[in-house]
Amino acid sequence: MSTRILVVDDEESNLKVLDRLLGKAGYAVSTASSGPQALDVLRADQPELVLTDLKMPGMDGLELLKAVRTVTPTTEVILMTAYGTVEIAVEAMREGAYDFITKPLNRHDVLRSVRKAEEKAQLVAENRQLRQQVEAQRNATGPLGTTVGRSEAFRSVLETLKQVAPSEATVLVMGESGTGKELLARAIHNLSDRSKGPLIRVNCAAIPENLFESELFGYEKGAFTGAAGRKPGRFELADGGTLFLDEVGEMSLAMQVKLLRVLQEGEFERVGGTKTVAVDVRLVAATNRDLERMVAERKFREDLYYRLNVIPLRVPPLRDRYDDVPLLAAHFLRVYAEKNRKGVRGITDDALEALQAYRWPGNVRELENTVERAVVLCKGDHIGVADLPGHMQPEGSGNARKLVFAIGTPLREMEDLAIRETLRYTGGDKKLAARLLGIAARTIYRKLEDKTGGEGDED
Ligand SMILES: Nc1ncnc2c1ncn2[C@@H]1O[C@H](COP(=O)(O)OP(=O)(O)OP(=O)(O)O)[C@@H](O)[C@H]1O
Ligand SMILES: [Mg+2]
Repeated sequence: MSTRILVVDDEESNLKVLDRLLGKAGYAVSTASSGPQALDVLRADQPELVLTDLKMPGMDGLELLKAVRTVTPTTEVILMTAYGTVEIAVEAMREGAYDFITKPLNRHDVLRSVRKAEEKAQLVAENRQLRQQVEAQRNATGPLGTTVGRSEAFRSVLETLKQVAPSEATVLVMGESGTGKELLARAIHNLSDRSKGPLIRVNCAAIPENLFESELFGYEKGAFTGAAGRKPGRFELADGGTLFLDEVGEMSLAMQVKLLRVLQEGEFERVGGTKTVAVDVRLVAATNRDLERMVAERKFREDLYYRLNVIPLRVPPLRDRYDDVPLLAAHFLRVYAEKNRKGVRGITDDALEALQAYRWPGNVRELENTVERAVVLCKGDHIGVADLPGHMQPEGSGNARKLVFAIGTPLREMEDLAIRETLRYTGGDKKLAARLLGIAARTIYRKLEDKTGGEGDED
């Protein structure tokens, strides 16, 4: 079956040219001359690729991109822009566009970009299948999934979780990015009486404003052009199960109002419909934002906050539970050694020490990525310090920094640089720096004084 591609441009002549070019190259091409029209085609056809103009009246390419991300998240988007709008194109890439090509169009550029996007779409589809297999295995390992942790802090979170999971109460999972909020939200569902029912996740950060209602509440046939049939929203899909509102702190105030209404009334209408729909849904929400502060700053509705925050579950950052690092590292080592078919069996003491000395701003996700990378790089059967990213390697471990001077550099300058760099290395510890440099602490103080014009620093 040939790859389907949707071309969107408000200029009829461009549509014609691209239709012919891509059709000849063997693609199944459909066209649309505006954003909304494109969305209709998307819903009906679910093409693998979208090639869209950036500048269009009404809905522009960037808005269309966001909508595609929600309606058919696996569709790859390529933007066409005129010279001079490259900055917007870069923003588009950040929003998840695959590529952009500049107008006037060159047929080779178009075909090359389309082919690459096509390959990517295929890869992503394969990966998704793989992930689903892994996911299935994971779920088969028990209600808590493969949740690893033995620290006091983490155990107490699990304790609370097990206690509240069977209830109907709304749970608000809070914690820094990568701490495991989604994992725990799934555990709540799995440990509840609703575990046989569906768990539906809504990523609030990814739904564009204008699609929020139709995504959450669904729509009736004919609600808008292209609504060929009725489509249930996520609330309806979650009936009898759990609705997981992820990244709930990213919702606009307008969306918050709409959500609050359903939570208060327990019912809603589909877009374009008049019939009231009542559903039986348990809510779990998650955020890495400080909602309380957002409430104070009027960026999050207080009434919604109280509705969501019935039972708060705070997941501590990894740096507050270092005990979990070795266990998590071992867990991820097993997972990725198997996945990459590598005979890596352990971690050297030095490497483990380095992992435990690191602050983990990206939390468990960063640890997972680090171990995955190390497994791939590892040549032996144990992950060593050299397999870790440079910034995690203890300083002086084989690759201490070196200073290079050109021949003829005045001694005074070399001395100056040596002192400053050594101080940087010791994190400002002057006594240690002096020891390393083989001079008296007094001397270092004096030399620094000379430089700074004499701010006293004697102890
Ligand atoms: N305790 C744990 N045991 C095993 N794996 C974990 C644990 N905590 C987190 N992970 C893994 O770390 C990764 C990140 O976790 P998750 O996506 O749940 O974090 P998050 O808090 O939702 O992050 P974000 O705020 O960025 O969305 C996932 O792959 C997850 O499986
Ligand atoms: Mg998450």
